[in-house]
Amino acid sequence: MTTVLAIDQGTSGTKAVVVDGQGATLAIVEAALHPHYGDGGAVEQDPRDLLASVMDTGRRAVAAAGRPIDAVALANQGETVLAWDPATGAPLTPAIVWQDRRAEGICRALSDNAPWVAQRTGLVLDPYFSAPKMAWLRANLTRQGVVTTVDTWLVHHLTGQFVTDAATASRSLLTDVDAVAWDPELLDLFGLGAEELPRIVRCDEIVGTTRAFGPEVPVVGLIVDQQAALLAEACWDPGAAKCTYGTGAFLLANTGETALRSTAGLTSSVAWHTATQTPYCVDGQVYTAASAIRWIKNLGFIQSASDLDSVAATESDGTLCVPALAGLAAPWWRPDATATFTGMTLSTRTEHLVLAVLQGIAAQVATLCTLVTSDLGTPLTRLRVDGGLTRSRTLMQAQADLAQIPIDVYPSPHATPLGAAALARLALNPRLTLAEAVGRWQPSAVYEPTWSADRAGEYLSSWTALAEATTTKES
Ligand code: G3P
Repeated sequence: MTTVLAIDQGTSGTKAVVVDGQGATLAIVEAALHPHYGDGGAVEQDPRDLLASVMDTGRRAVAAAGRPIDAVALANQGETVLAWDPATGAPLTPAIVWQDRRAEGICRALSDNAPWVAQRTGLVLDPYFSAPKMAWLRANLTRQGVVTTVDTWLVHHLTGQFVTDAATASRSLLTDVDAVAWDPELLDLFGLGAEELPRIVRCDEIVGTTRAFGPEVPVVGLIVDQQAALLAEACWDPGAAKCTYGTGAFLLANTGETALRSTAGLTSSVAWHTATQTPYCVDGQVYTAASAIRWIKNLGFIQSASDLDSVAATESDGTLCVPALAGLAAPWWRPDATATFTGMTLSTRTEHLVLAVLQGIAAQVATLCTLVTSDLGTPLTRLRVDGGLTRSRTLMQAQADLAQIPIDVYPSPHATPLGAAALARLALNPRLTLAEAVGRWQPSAVYEPTWSADRAGEYLSSWTALAEATTTKES
């Protein structure tokens, strides 16, 4: 029996889960985090809050589980970066969150290089990814210390090691996605050639040990959060896809052992890298999902996310929303895009606006399903989903209606930590297959499309026209 403390250090919170050898949850402790939003698209976190939340939730979860743990696994928020002092571990800057758009000018200045960068990395030259933010941080905040993604800093605090996992590194715009290695030309392009870089490790590699949560245990199972959920949801066959509705919504589809270069505007990265396999995935991003819900809550439209289904109108009055509150990603790649509501009349009520936001998120994900179909060359037949917003029946039904495929809701709200825990179990029990480490699951709910294909097509063509108008506005 392998008991794992799996920590999901996300954008809106940190969650520590203790899971047993069968993947059953023994304890869960969560801490909310509140990113700071500033001018020019700034989104920052205090790194000390992130570290404190990891230590505090981890310790409390182990205490609540009431049994010793055998390993610590860590999922991270991917493209969030900071500078820190490698001698003391002290942060030298705020954490610049993946949603932060201040590196837009850096991407624009490098735009002539976009084709070869896309070919080399599988990614798009956009401030979402780590490297432009690292370059922005170096130009604007400090030249001291090392600049890395948050996982490297957290693992340094746990183990003293200087590492990042292959899946997280593949989100940086600094790796050759085929070789899964730092690329000197890319480092030079972003002016990062002189940086000290962490060693890239496998996701099932024991990177060191920690006493942070009790007796000394290995740290193993490092992975970016979206890919952890892809693994937990058993998306290991090429074509299997999932969408996680967290702070943003992220749709990933397994593409097998080849990193395809999207012709549809999606991005490609490592799904996970273990001793026996390195599958890749294509992904599309909706930058604001739960953060759009938090925004309508701040505006007073709802009291909490649990009100969504009771407040949202059951039928649209024609109001459409493109919830681009932090720019638009695939396939538009317009960090400067802003949110739009249209079609309102004097009879439009709050409930219509709430429905339009939910449908806007679902329409963006449905668009990504179409793009994935185009890249894979075969239609998605189902979509697996997880994350807090899957509790909204209105959103999930809109998703099935607009994507025109059944939606399978993952039965646990903890897909991300469960994926990281599976990697740790795999490492500690080499006789396990990946499928055995992950285990089987049945959806807790299935949403079937109730709209006709024509109705979905009409809605999506109006919504797409609005999104296009949003992206063709003067920047
Ligand atoms: O790419 C950013 C994404 O991985 C963040 O996930 O769960 O913090 O919204 P989450």
